Amino acid sequence: MWYAGRSCIFQQPSRLYDLDVQALADIVVRPASPSDRDAATALTRAHTTSMRDSAAPRDTHAPDFSLGGTFLVALLENAVIGVSVVNTHRTELAGLVVAPHLRRRGVATALLAAARAFADSRGFAELSAPLEPTGWLERRGWVRTADRLALHLSAPRGWHIRPAHVSDCPAICEVHLQSIRELCAPHYTPDQVQAWCDGKNPAMYEMLLQKSPWFVAEESGRVLGFGDVGPARSELPGEWEVHGLYFSPAAAGRGIGGAMMRRLESLAREAGATSLFVRGTVNAAPFYSHMGFAELGRDTHRTRSGVELPSVAMRKTL
Ligand SMILES: CC(C)(COP(=O)(O)OP(=O)(O)OC[C@H]1O[C@@H](n2cnc3c(N)ncnc32)[C@H](O)[C@@H]1OP(=O)(O)O)[C@@H](O)C(=O)NCCC(=O)NCCS
Repeated sequence: MWYAGRSCIFQQPSRLYDLDVQALADIVVRPASPSDRDAATALTRAHTTSMRDSAAPRDTHAPDFSLGGTFLVALLENAVIGVSVVNTHRTELAGLVVAPHLRRRGVATALLAAARAFADSRGFAELSAPLEPTGWLERRGWVRTADRLALHLSAPRGWHIRPAHVSDCPAICEVHLQSIRELCAPHYTPDQVQAWCDGKNPAMYEMLLQKSPWFVAEESGRVLGFGDVGPARSELPGEWEVHGLYFSPAAAGRGIGGAMMRRLESLAREAGATSLFVRGTVNAAPFYSHMGFAELGRDTHRTRSGVELPSVAMRKTL
């Protein structure tokens, strides 16, 4: 299992999730940085022990921080006053806690908004919460299913990203070939493109799906593209690698590849990765640079069908 040994991950601040919610109470919510770790841990521990205290309002989501995930922190004058945790693998809000003396000031609402933005920008179909209490979340658009609460996110964007199933393999194969033949081909010779496509068939993807986490982006039942990440073949400790990231020509340029990249990154980070490597196609190098990867050098990439193709080695520190 590639999720064994998951740990709590503290992200670097990112402009995407800097939510300035001064209108509520001079609160800033952002991904936790390493320096927030002690304060965030202390707050979550204190909350866990006081959860049944009658003085504690029942309007925060009972935490199960043991699940780990991406921690988002609320700060007031640089002090951590609240934490929410989103577990990317389980697409779940794993915890939400606010310092008891600052409850009912909109902090939990801001943390929930940050968790939602995090999930949305990674293409979650929905964010779920397994725990009581329900009323506070239901008043914020969450719906009760048999045993959990869920916040549906795929409307209005229309598409979502989900783990790939064996039944997706024919569509994955088709999208991969289309993507190579139309989006990559202008940057490679016809012979390279032909060799690259040779041997790709649905059965090949069925085997690959067993080896590492694969995701597909889907819209109205149609597979738009896929992403595949896992521990790197390199010797660098803590390094994971993007093995594949391909979209159909019609789907490219709609923000879905970026969402897939963020999804793969969160998954890797939450599984303990400290850097992400990619041997990108020549055409995708500017995209990876835009997503925060630094170029290590020109290289060749041995495709799954055994062909050496010009590529760009790139790395991102997580
Ligand atoms: C590379 C690829 C995966 C990117 O996916 P995409 O859906 O087209 O990318 P998005 O529309 O989500 O773009 C995400 C961000 O990257 C930026 N971006 C995309 N392509 C870019 C480029 N060539 N140069 C600079 N920035 C780029 C977008 O402007 C967007 O920025 P924003 O989030 O600040 O608005 C996709 O184009 C593709 O499938 N290409 C062919 C296959 C391939 O070469 N894959 C790489 C294999 S290693």
